[in-house]
Amino acid sequence: MATLKLKTKINQLVGEVTIPGDKSISHRSVMFGSIAHGETSVTNFLPGDDCLSTISCFRKLGVTIEESDGQLRIIGKGFEGLTEPTEVLDVGNSGTTIRLLMGILAGRPFYSSLVGDASIGKRPMTRVTVPLSKMGAKLDGRKNGDFTPISIRGGQLQPIQYELPVASAQVKSALILAGLQADGVSTIIEPAETRDHTERMIRQFGGEIIKDNQTIRVKGGQKLTASTIHVPGDISSAAFFLVAGAIIPGSEIVLKNVGLNPTRTGIIEVMQKMGADLEIVQVENNNFEPAGDLIIKTSNLKGTVVEGSLIPKLIDEIPIIALLATQAEGTTIIKDAEELKVKETNRIDTVVQELKTLGADIEATEDGMIIHGKSKLSGGEVSSHGDHRIGMMLAIASLLCQNAVELEHPEAISVSYPNFFDHLNSLIQ
Ligand code: S3P
Repeated sequence: MATLKLKTKINQLVGEVTIPGDKSISHRSVMFGSIAHGETSVTNFLPGDDCLSTISCFRKLGVTIEESDGQLRIIGKGFEGLTEPTEVLDVGNSGTTIRLLMGILAGRPFYSSLVGDASIGKRPMTRVTVPLSKMGAKLDGRKNGDFTPISIRGGQLQPIQYELPVASAQVKSALILAGLQADGVSTIIEPAETRDHTERMIRQFGGEIIKDNQTIRVKGGQKLTASTIHVPGDISSAAFFLVAGAIIPGSEIVLKNVGLNPTRTGIIEVMQKMGADLEIVQVENNNFEPAGDLIIKTSNLKGTVVEGSLIPKLIDEIPIIALLATQAEGTTIIKDAEELKVKETNRIDTVVQELKTLGADIEATEDGMIIHGKSKLSGGEVSSHGDHRIGMMLAIASLLCQNAVELEHPEAISVSYPNFFDHLNSLIQ
């Protein structure tokens, strides 16, 4: 399917959506199930393309993984149970798969080669290959190890003391996974707090990790034991319906089972600051990751500034926050978000270009964007550019458009939310 005619000028969104499993946690459930000892079971796994790429890579590394209907059974044999792959490991579109996998493979005494799609081929990898090389692994790739294909010859690792140059959970996690295999204690310092799913997973699999503000310490040689994992819904997926409910007149949407890990809830903070009628109900704190239900109603919104240490807590939600800002009174400034340039697409460029096409008043800056609201959205031909979050943001934007909207490359959406359009259509009255 090359293009899709999107629904426009709809009346209201009313109903309930159960949000599918969290992408970051689903990836990690496969990885930790594979490097632990014993049989791990996972429920509410996200069967999106990215997480299926992770399963496929671990199968090529010799791990038995059964998957059906969002349930996984993983037979882990420890780090030492991973075997040299006879084929290249294809991560598809997934940055989390490639970067975390590098951390695991750095400590394995064999050769492997990692490739991905055209988007992965443009994303920087020296942020991981450089510190892993310092630990003693041999990594290489195009342009001095910065781009795929990446080759790895792993081996015994030295611990590392490393200050991350960027606030990235993927880089932090790669170093933690390598640190688990090193000869001693590794210390990783992050410039701002990022999602802590890897740290929580280690504890859930019986391991130890110490976190003191932004300093993380992990000891090598720990034996992880199999666990039972229930993946909460993905707040990054819920974000599309949170914004849709807030900007479409006459709406009321209940979002069930949304992960509420405080390192991920920046979108809630921003929406509340902008005046959204957003309520958190039924918070469940018994799992290793908190979750709850959210209720969003049509809201009177005002512009805001999104910056600083809040950015890593909502980095994936910036495309949909940009749309939200087009429907808020006044100016919204998003800054300190240069990392957007190295996501699945350059999301400063793709967000600004596509929202402009629809009639928004938005301009790019060096580290973010400036949006003036409220704009009437018209319509036109837009593209996801192969980026799932740009595709979903445009599908929500089109609901407000007065003229026809055609979306190029809607298939990208299955990377993180395969049943997105079913859920959206179920809410349209
Ligand atoms: C992720 C970390 C973030 C995020 C990505 C998922 C993770 O990337 O944007 O979608 O699962 O660790 P960075 O680490 O590059 O910021």
